[in-house]
Amino acid sequence: MPDPLSFSLAGKVIIQFGGTGLLGRALVDALGAAGATLIVASRNREALETLAASEQARGRTVHVDEVDIGSEESLQALRDRVLAEHGRVDGIVFNAVSRPMKGYSADLDQWRESMDVNATGFFATVRTFGDTMADKGSGSIVNIASQMGTIGMNPWLYEGTSMSASPDYFFHKGGMINLTRYLASHYGEMNVRVNVVSPGGIYNPDQPQADAFLERYGKMTMLGRMADAPEIGGSVVFLLSDASTYITGANLAIDGGYTAK
Ligand SMILES: NC(=O)c1ccc[n+]([C@@H]2O[C@H](COP(=O)([O-])OP(=O)(O)OC[C@H]3O[C@@H](n4cnc5c(N)ncnc54)[C@H](O)[C@@H]3O)[C@@H](O)[C@H]2O)c1
Repeated sequence: MPDPLSFSLAGKVIIQFGGTGLLGRALVDALGAAGATLIVASRNREALETLAASEQARGRTVHVDEVDIGSEESLQALRDRVLAEHGRVDGIVFNAVSRPMKGYSADLDQWRESMDVNATGFFATVRTFGDTMADKGSGSIVNIASQMGTIGMNPWLYEGTSMSASPDYFFHKGGMINLTRYLASHYGEMNVRVNVVSPGGIYNPDQPQADAFLERYGKMTMLGRMADAPEIGGSVVFLLSDASTYITGANLAIDGGYTAK
């Protein structure tokens, strides 16, 4: 019987898709600290190896593997390797995103390329690993969406900066949020929970956003600022842990009150 007061991921085999970006690195830190046996999978093995080495040096159980989310064969091969090596999958975090579309007027091929990973690849991933966890009789899927999956584009935020927001992102993040509800319903009686978190904008200390953007963005939130990447991890750990065994189909906003204001 799972302990509903346990936030620990000790003993749980978790696969995180996408781990080298701003949020991905913070999630690796959070899941590793919570005790998960973590397999981080994305396309760039070299960057992943560096990440895993620094996590292992801190005593974390972090492995890396390579996957192309745009290929079902690649996903199935990853599943087979993880089952052969670890014997089970207890949870996945879908954190990967592809950003090929450069602006509203971009060629439609960029939209199609985005959908290959962010729509088709996303579904192929959750189906491959959802079915694997359903066979075992338990599991948790956490999808990383964005507040942009719920609200429209606000051009005022970007005025006078080189920043912009691409339309494909609003489409596939919105789709991710509602597909999460479908998946939660599909897998519910198989004891596989499916939830989504919707972070607000994350401050990038390595390449800070324009000052004008930061000031306007802060005013749109209740807390007066962007998120720091480590602030997202606790919610993902919670949704993977036994502390959330009765939560499924939920969309958890982690946006400093942006979408509630
Ligand atoms: N950065 C933000 O402000 C912000 C805000 C809200 C939500 N998010 C979401 O958080 C998640 C991570 O964001 P990030 O800024 O760290 O992203 P990022 O672009 O820095 O990293 C994305 C990751 O996805 C992986 N990836 C892309 N295509 C892939 C493919 N075909 N196969 C396998 N892996 C692939 C990349 O290798 C990388 O590890 C995304 O879902 C993003 O939409 C980010």
